[in-house]
Amino acid sequence: MGFLCIPSKVIHSTWYNFYMSITRIDNIFSQKEIDHMLKIISEGDSHIDARYGRLRVSDLEHGLLPETIEKFNNIVKNISTLPLKMGSVMSVDYSPLYGEPHLPPHFDGDSNDLIINIQLDSNTFWDIGLNLETYRLNDNCALIFNANEEVHWRVHKRFKEGEHVLMVFARFFNEENLSDYSHLSVPDDKILKAPTDFRNSLGIFD
Ligand SMILES: [Fe+2]
Repeated sequence: MGFLCIPSKVIHSTWYNFYMSITRIDNIFSQKEIDHMLKIISEGDSHIDARYGRLRVSDLEHGLLPETIEKFNNIVKNISTLPLKMGSVMSVDYSPLYGEPHLPPHFDGDSNDLIINIQLDSNTFWDIGLNLETYRLNDNCALIFNANEEVHWRVHKRFKEGEHVLMVFARFFNEENLSDYSHLSVPDDKILKAPTDFRNSLGIFD
């Protein structure tokens, strides 16, 4: 597994401070883990999130291979000094089959301190935005960040018929001192303005 750590940066502006600590890991899973993940996703209960144009499968944490859980825990230990514990693991498959895939700038507004965001399978590119930067992932590549500290989003894109991007999200929380980011589920518009303007300035990708 190769670790490529993007340097932490601090951006100051009139309206907000972003403390960015974002890690990228290429080739996170073995082929056995990928095959297993695809299998438990196909066997799970799926729900359409028409609002975001995606098919969601929750509760994957119960079916993970032990080696995947160990890998997640080791990654998290390398990144954070907090006593983080794995909570929910879910997949979302963005596709025009389920609506118009899109993801506006937001915080998760939950109680998790870290998310491992894995692109498991895709047949098109769809850049992820974190604050005022975009990241292009290959399949089996992960971005790891705090989804309650980093504003995250996707570039505008028109998905063609048959295109899809399948993601897995593994979330981690501090079991000794649970965070409460619930106020961020509806954040001050000023915080989202810069990422929203930046996203719009990029136009629409095909
Ligand atoms: Fe999110």
